[in-house]
Amino acid sequence: MYWQGMSTLTKIGIGLGAVVALGLIGLASLVGYSVATWPGQYPDTPRPQLASTDDPETIARGAYIVDALAHCTICHTPEEEFLFKDVRGMVPKGGHEWQMGPMGTVYSANLTPAGIGEMSDADLARVIRTGINADHHPAPLMVAVGPMADEDLIAVMSYLRSLEPVDNDVPDSTFTAMGKTLMPLAMPGFIQPRDIAPPAFVKEGGISIERGRYIAHGPAFCFACHSEMQISPELAVKEPYFAGAAAPDPDPKDSTMELRAPNLTTHETGWLHGVTEDAFVTRLKAGRAVEHSPMPWENYALMTEDDMRSVYRYLASVPPVDQVTGPGYRKAGWTPTD
Ligand code: HEC
Ligand code: HEC
Repeated sequence: MYWQGMSTLTKIGIGLGAVVALGLIGLASLVGYSVATWPGQYPDTPRPQLASTDDPETIARGAYIVDALAHCTICHTPEEEFLFKDVRGMVPKGGHEWQMGPMGTVYSANLTPAGIGEMSDADLARVIRTGINADHHPAPLMVAVGPMADEDLIAVMSYLRSLEPVDNDVPDSTFTAMGKTLMPLAMPGFIQPRDIAPPAFVKEGGISIERGRYIAHGPAFCFACHSEMQISPELAVKEPYFAGAAAPDPDPKDSTMELRAPNLTTHETGWLHGVTEDAFVTRLKAGRAVEHSPMPWENYALMTEDDMRSVYRYLASVPPVDQVTGPGYRKAGWTPTD
């Protein structure tokens, strides 16, 4: 998951920084090359030809996708204004800050018309779908956005266009020479166009496995964090799906703790084992328990009950996977014998 990627990068960064300091000439020239070619340009990435609308029903659907399913606000609002809050209608004014140690600092963009007003619909659709910005550069972290059907992407754009402009001048993201050298090597998927075909649309309303699958693999992207994911351009997610994250990530704010997105299957090692549909709904509605979890609990708590039940039914239909992932939040270095 993106969070894991960032912390891994920071670790590699510190190690590589020491090596660079030793003066290895080959590495130094690699750094020079990477800095000179940063950031990559992807002008050929197609712009989806989709147009936003002022149709109130479409705008209302867009609000639901931004607020609940696609969790844009966990990244597009400052963390202190978001965590543990009721985020319905929260304005994505940008300014969430990610400090990546020696790699650089990333800031999210202002998504109100004061920020994206100048962008054409085609450019807006492209950055949401592929992560490639209007200037053809990759927008870091947009890799975490799940694939959406055209119908939902139009709704998201229409909602953003309908917001009151909020003036919030967000600083540009910056990468150090080390960040520019390491990102392309260690995490090419962060800085290349994301290439996932849009899924077939399954409209909201009613409870179905198909709708649950669309949400979990699409806009909510449960699938990416709760499976083994490689940060390659196409964001390859490895089977078996929903077996849990491949490895724990350090808690970004407390090095004595770690997080691991659990196995979500019904196998006895999985989180869903013995959990009823009602208990699942209750858990999602209860929201965040772990302060530093990357999971957008505040957003998902706003999902309709039909959508929560659809996700449950889909997960219950996924082949059970035997994999002990342990508690989602635990002491660093946890093993199954603890
Ligand atoms: C994991 C965090 C994350 C999530 C989730 C996320 N974004 Fe972003 N987004 C970012 C960051 C960071 C940037 C700014 C990157 C940069 O250019 O420095 C960005 C940039 C953008 C831009 C480009 C704005 C501009 O002015 O160039 C748009 C549009 C955008 N996001 C829309 C969305 C929408 C819509 C969603 C939900 C469907 C979403 N984002 C979800 C992190 C995120
Ligand atoms: C950005 C990564 C991310 C995404 C997206 C994500 N999760 Fe998680 N999830 C985690 C992590 C990390 C944990 C462990 C920490 C915690 O409990 O918050 C977790 C924990 C859980 C738990 C266990 C909660 C508990 O009380 O022990 C459930 C259930 C769950 N996720 C379901 C889902 C569902 C359903 C979706 C999609 C609708 C989803 N997750 C999307 C990362 C993610």
